[in-house]
Amino acid sequence: MEKLEIIGRKKLSGTISISGSKNATLPILAATILTNKKILIKNIPIVRDVETMVALLNTIGSTVKLNKKKKTIEILNKKKLKTLAPYSLVKTMRAGVLVLGPLLAKYGSAKVSLPGGCSIGSRPIDLHLNALKKMGAKINVKNGYIIASAKNGLKGSLIKFPKISVGATQNILIASCFSKGKTKIRNCASEPEVQDLIYFLRKLGCKIYQIGKRSLDVEGIVNLKPCVHKVIFDRIEAGTYIIAAALTNGRLKIKNIDPKIISTEINLLNKMKVKIIRKKNYIIVTSAKKIGAIKVDTRPYPGFPTDLQAQIMVLMTQSEDISTIRENIFENRFMHVSELRRMGANIEVVGNRAKIYGGRQLNGAELMATDLRASVSLVLAGLAAKEKTVINRIYHLDRGYEQIEKKLSACGASIRRLK
Ligand code: EPZ
Repeated sequence: MEKLEIIGRKKLSGTISISGSKNATLPILAATILTNKKILIKNIPIVRDVETMVALLNTIGSTVKLNKKKKTIEILNKKKLKTLAPYSLVKTMRAGVLVLGPLLAKYGSAKVSLPGGCSIGSRPIDLHLNALKKMGAKINVKNGYIIASAKNGLKGSLIKFPKISVGATQNILIASCFSKGKTKIRNCASEPEVQDLIYFLRKLGCKIYQIGKRSLDVEGIVNLKPCVHKVIFDRIEAGTYIIAAALTNGRLKIKNIDPKIISTEINLLNKMKVKIIRKKNYIIVTSAKKIGAIKVDTRPYPGFPTDLQAQIMVLMTQSEDISTIRENIFENRFMHVSELRRMGANIEVVGNRAKIYGGRQLNGAELMATDLRASVSLVLAGLAAKEKTVINRIYHLDRGYEQIEKKLSACGASIRRLK
């Protein structure tokens, strides 16, 4: 099993180019099920989850060409697709469930593996299923599969989500574009990745009207257009490298981003005394001599993202005082804490709250990665720690960070992959 070895306390300096967003690419790929026209998607991050979604689309009969060098995907659905999304692919990536809405809307039936448990929480899909039922689908769950049908197609409806969900918003949004009549979607997620999906769907010709901050009206259509789309930057990758610069007392230019989209994160890091100069499509991060303590609550966008919670916690261990985190999105997202403690961090956890005592020197250790963001937090801790850190099970990291060792070592980090 591959490992990462990091020798810490090297100042980072240089430029890091941010990749396209994994979490924007996945729903866009799922949405291509709706069309038989030629689609070209640019700025694709070459990470495992994207490869899994490409494999899933190929399995159901789509012609998907991933050009790793150009970072593009070309799609042309020449024939009717199969409507079975097998366990072998959905089990490794929960976003596989995003093919349910489009398959059902286009073909009137779908059999999609239930995604199963997840290390960060139970992650149910009731919001997806209840909304599809409201749109006329018959849904049974049997032998680990969601078996859904809508013989006469899905019909427009009023969908009021009882809770904000990124995936359910995306699944229902895609399905409603191909449903009969008008769908009103309320209490939607407004993450930039949902916004990027809306831009993509509009390029296909879909009629989506943004009524308010969390309200969308969609008029179903059947004739879609070919399109070219460039995926939005990965805001979580950008946030991760800002924290890397701050932790190593370095200076990084972080480019190919839109600072406005990450203003919550930038403002919060400013409060921690991290200096960030904002330009149109890049920022320059120089860290403070002393990191300030802070209180963070994870919230749906435009709140502070849960996907950056583990990373900010590492920075908090290096602050002058006591910081706190309240994780409001997932019930079990503190798995990195026990590994950070093994490096010398002093962190108390009660329920969904963590209290981080700053001013502790981190020391290198042998660690185990658990999920994607927990894994990258250990990389950050390793960059700040004295001596050597070895991180096991880094396949989690490869699901969502493109060429992380290459990007960091080009800026002076001592990091290498051990096979
Ligand atoms: C997306 O997951 C992201 N994944 C996650 O990123 C991210 O952490 C999450 O949104 C929150 O921002 C992708 O975009 C592929 P949710 P998603 O539905 O859509 C509950 C990463 O590291 N819920 O917004 O699955 C759920 O349990 C990943 O890149 C229900 O109760 O998240 C959670 O508490 C991890 N019923 C909350 O809603 C449902 O039917 C928000 O989850 C659906 C969700």
